Amino acid sequence: MLEFDPDTFGTLNADEYDALHDPGTTEESVALIAELAGDGARLLELAIGTGRIALPLKALGFEISGIEGSAAMVEKLREKPGGEDIPVVIGDMADCAITGDFDFAFLVFNTLFNLTSQAEQVRCFRNVADRLAPGGAFLVETFVPDFSAYHDNQSLRTTKIGFKSLWFEAKVHDPTRQVIEYQRVRITEKGTRMVPLVMRYAWPQEIDLMAELAGLTLEHRWGGWKREPFTPESKMHVSLYRKPAN
Ligand SMILES: C[S@@+](CC[C@H](N)C(=O)[O-])C[C@H]1O[C@@H](n2cnc3c(N)ncnc32)[C@H](O)[C@@H]1O
Repeated sequence: MLEFDPDTFGTLNADEYDALHDPGTTEESVALIAELAGDGARLLELAIGTGRIALPLKALGFEISGIEGSAAMVEKLREKPGGEDIPVVIGDMADCAITGDFDFAFLVFNTLFNLTSQAEQVRCFRNVADRLAPGGAFLVETFVPDFSAYHDNQSLRTTKIGFKSLWFEAKVHDPTRQVIEYQRVRITEKGTRMVPLVMRYAWPQEIDLMAELAGLTLEHRWGGWKREPFTPESKMHVSLYRKPAN
């Protein structure tokens, strides 16, 4: 299997992250997090990245801190207006300590799955539960696994085509470990660039069990950032877990 450390994603993607990783849901993500957290809440973003979500929340007046595995991603955050003012601890979100008592933590854009084993994902939930104040909440956004486009546990998809360029994405699925290895290949006149990725997916109900192991209980699950209902057709979910008040 491809080996991924907490800083590998950033080493491979930091330079192009903002240009190539826009899910198109930033505005509604920020709005829902702000509403659910409530005025004055102390926020913690796991895998804060280049500040796509954290910077607009900071601009709304929230106190926000981050954990991030990649110094290269944090460098990009620091280059942006307001980016110097967000405390960030560089470390693995599965284990990393961060000072503070937080009211609302969040881990968005499928990043729970960047932890490539179930054990790490469980540790991450426990880590968050330890950082939350009583009554605090943890919001998680991930895709719902979908293998309808796979054949023999593999998938190949063209993502961009031009006169002199071709981008495609190859995926290999190991259902025994719930791991998908990706290779994103870009062939241009300048040569070939490969950007690999490993994700360990989990079904929504497995994520609920991880939360339960950490003492957090599912409060809401939506099929999108605008509180769309979660149905068998949902491609993603936004789930909110709560720590008991005492
Ligand atoms: C898809 S990006 C999401 C960044 C940001 N949250 C956003 O929504 O734009 C994934 C982020 O997770 C970080 N990351 C990956 N593994 C990590 C780990 N084990 N601990 C902390 N951060 C990690 C990467 O460096 C990257 O910044």
